[in-house]
Amino acid sequence: MSATPSRPKPIRKAVFPVAGLGTRFLPATKVVPKELLPVVDRPLIQYAVDEAREAGIEQMIFVTGRGKTGIVEHFDIAFELEKTMAERGRDTSVLDCTRAVPGDVIAVRQQVPLGLGHAIWCARAIVGDEPFAIFLPDELMVARAGGSGCMKQMVEAYEEVGGNLVSVLEVPIEQVSSYGVIAPGESRGKLTEVRGLVEKPPVSAAPSNKIVSGRYILQPEVMGLLAAQERGAGGEIQLTDAMAKLIGSQPFHALTFDGARYDCGSKVGFVEATLAIALSRPDMGEAVRAMAQRLLG
Ligand code: G1P
Repeated sequence: MSATPSRPKPIRKAVFPVAGLGTRFLPATKVVPKELLPVVDRPLIQYAVDEAREAGIEQMIFVTGRGKTGIVEHFDIAFELEKTMAERGRDTSVLDCTRAVPGDVIAVRQQVPLGLGHAIWCARAIVGDEPFAIFLPDELMVARAGGSGCMKQMVEAYEEVGGNLVSVLEVPIEQVSSYGVIAPGESRGKLTEVRGLVEKPPVSAAPSNKIVSGRYILQPEVMGLLAAQERGAGGEIQLTDAMAKLIGSQPFHALTFDGARYDCGSKVGFVEATLAIALSRPDMGEAVRAMAQRLLG
C-alpha cells in the first residue's frame, strides 16, 4: 500500500452535485428539490453538509440547476423568520446548522445534465488547484453512536495515505450494475488499494461487489481528465472513468465506512433512513418504536 511522504494538503472544499431532476420522487419533487425533502425534520442536504463540517470542510460548492435555488437559500439567514421568532421569545438555535460563514456557500450551475463527471467539472474554477471532497447527498451516511461520520473517517485515512479516496461498501453481486465498482488490491483494516474502477458493469464483468458509495476525496488533476468530456456508461460523462485514469499515477484507496448507509435515491431507502433516524433520536425514538410496533401488529 502506497503512502505519501509529506503531509497531504488539507481538504477545505466540498462539491455537492444537486442538479438532478429527482424524477423518482415525483410529484413531491415537482417544485421542491429532492435534496430538500425532509428525513424526519432536516432536509437531506443538511445531513451531507453536517458531515462535511464535522470533517473540517469549510467551503460548500453546490452544483445546481433550474428550480434548485432553494438549496442555496436553505443555507442563508432567514431574517424575517429569525426576527419574528426572537420577538416571540422562541429559540432559534434549531436554525444554527443552516448558517454559513459569509462566502462559504457557493453555487455554480450545470446547464445541461450530461452526467456526474460533467457536474463535478462545472465546479472546476471554484475548486482550483487543491484536493477536494465530493458528497452525493442521496447516499445518507450515519455515524455509529459516539463514532465519526464517513467523511471524517476518510479525511483521517487521507492524512495518512494522501492521493484519492472513495468510500465503498459491499452489495449483493446482482446489484453492482447500478453503481461504480472497484477492482480491489491489498487491504489493511478499513482501507483497500484501488486497482481499477468501472461504472455500472454487467454482473459478469464486475471486478468485485465493492461499490462506490457517494463520498470521494480527489486530487484536482481529475478536473483536467474530466475536461476531455468523454462519454461512458449510459452515454454520460462519468466521474468513475476520469478517476480510473488517475490510478497508477497517484495513490488511490477505498475506505469501508464504519457506520450505516441509506440509499435515499430510492423510496424504500428514504423511508428506511427516516425510520432509522427517528428511532435513534432521543426526543422521539421511544414513541416511534411504539408506533412501529403497533403498525406491524
Ligand atoms: C453515481 C456514481 C456511481 C456511484 C453511485 C453511488 O451513480 O456514478 O459510481 O456508485 O452514484 O450512489 P448514479 O446513482 O448517479 O447513477
